[in-house]
Amino acid sequence: MANKIIFPDNFLWGAATASYQIEGAWNKHGKGESTWDRFTHTPGNIKNNDTGDVADDHYNRWKKDIGLMKKIGLKAYRFSISWPRILPAGRGKVNQKGLDFYGKLVDELLKAGITPFVTLNHWDLPQVLEDEGGWTVRSTAEAFVDYANIVSRTLGDRVKNWITHNEPAVVTWMGYSMGIHAPGSKDYALGVCAAHHLLLSHGWAIPVIKRNVPNAEVGLALNIGWKAPASNSKYDLQLAREDDGKWFRWFADPAYGRGYPSDIVETFTKMGALPNGLDFVQAGDMDVIATPTDFVGLNYYSRQLARSDDPNNDPQVVFPKPNTPDNWTEMPWENYPEGLTGVLSRVYFDYQPLKVYITENGASYSTPPSEDGEVHDEHRTNYLRTHFAATHRAIQAGVPLAGYFVWSLMDNFEWSQGYSQRFGIIWVNYETQERILKDSAKWYKGVIKKNGF
Ligand code: FCB
Repeated sequence: MANKIIFPDNFLWGAATASYQIEGAWNKHGKGESTWDRFTHTPGNIKNNDTGDVADDHYNRWKKDIGLMKKIGLKAYRFSISWPRILPAGRGKVNQKGLDFYGKLVDELLKAGITPFVTLNHWDLPQVLEDEGGWTVRSTAEAFVDYANIVSRTLGDRVKNWITHNEPAVVTWMGYSMGIHAPGSKDYALGVCAAHHLLLSHGWAIPVIKRNVPNAEVGLALNIGWKAPASNSKYDLQLAREDDGKWFRWFADPAYGRGYPSDIVETFTKMGALPNGLDFVQAGDMDVIATPTDFVGLNYYSRQLARSDDPNNDPQVVFPKPNTPDNWTEMPWENYPEGLTGVLSRVYFDYQPLKVYITENGASYSTPPSEDGEVHDEHRTNYLRTHFAATHRAIQAGVPLAGYFVWSLMDNFEWSQGYSQRFGIIWVNYETQERILKDSAKWYKGVIKKNGF
């Protein structure tokens, strides 16, 4: 075994989930319909037509689930709040039962010594707001601020760590432009508007949360892949830069006060995605979006290769093919830990965030329980071990990394892939709702205990 790897004192070891992926109870106790309810209830959108109607039934089993977190020794738990559970009509009248659910959850977490990290928007927008245009219209950004105000006012005496949006790029491109996620539209011009209103609402919400929560820390969780050119050809290099520009810089640059990246404005203009230019940007918006944050959250999973020099193929950015089963996950995304060190160093170098959390990282393997009743998911343990080592290298290089959240605490509804992908360190039997701590969870418990491995 290589040298021991020990993390800084107070490093926050955590796990993450999202409301739609685990809660179920989609129409219980006054919850309104979300865009994901509508999208999954429309046949043909999701693998096997799976839905989150029941999911992990976490809405009813939350107490036991916190018991499992305690068993693993988690120091922090990142979860999201279902906006339509709090505001079934998107704005206006509060559903007290929804608020109470999260209040009880937070109390129990604190009792277990687990620090709560709240994500306000992990994609399940109230459908009524989508009917008015969703993130493509400014009024949704305004409604988000009311929602952020209500939640932070209620939980702010107990919750200090707040994430406004999870992966705005995924909502934007996969939801509004590619039709793979809710709401399922296929229009790049809509995507660009959605991106702006997501970012604007982020900026508007920061001072509201800070006013309600003494000592709050607020950030944004951005997805970032390691985008590399497939060769040294200038076309591959250009494509890699463009893809990173669309998926990362389009969000990070304005959030860090640089406005929208001009090379990508040009790309979008060529694509016809800016038919009226940036006319949705009003005076002062870019300053609002640049409101300083306390940390950036990064969701990292894999690398992608950009190839655009083959005259027979369209330019493409792909997850490379595996060379051994060990560096392959079932999404199918490559296990590429070097990319995690790379993105952490790059983001710190480029944007100088005050603090960084890895808000998601993990792997999909469907390894089922063996005859002994245990889940021997050594591939996942290997993925985590190599990524923890990659994280540690970034810390040694000076990146101010304060914590790491495994995606995910438990197997759950994986968006367009339904239940076919299992990211959990806890196995969930969807027939019986039985949970089993996988070997990776037991290994993680040891890491947390020793603050290293
Ligand atoms: C991220 C999402 C998260 C989960 C992982 C696998 O894009 O934020 O909800 O689905 O991918």
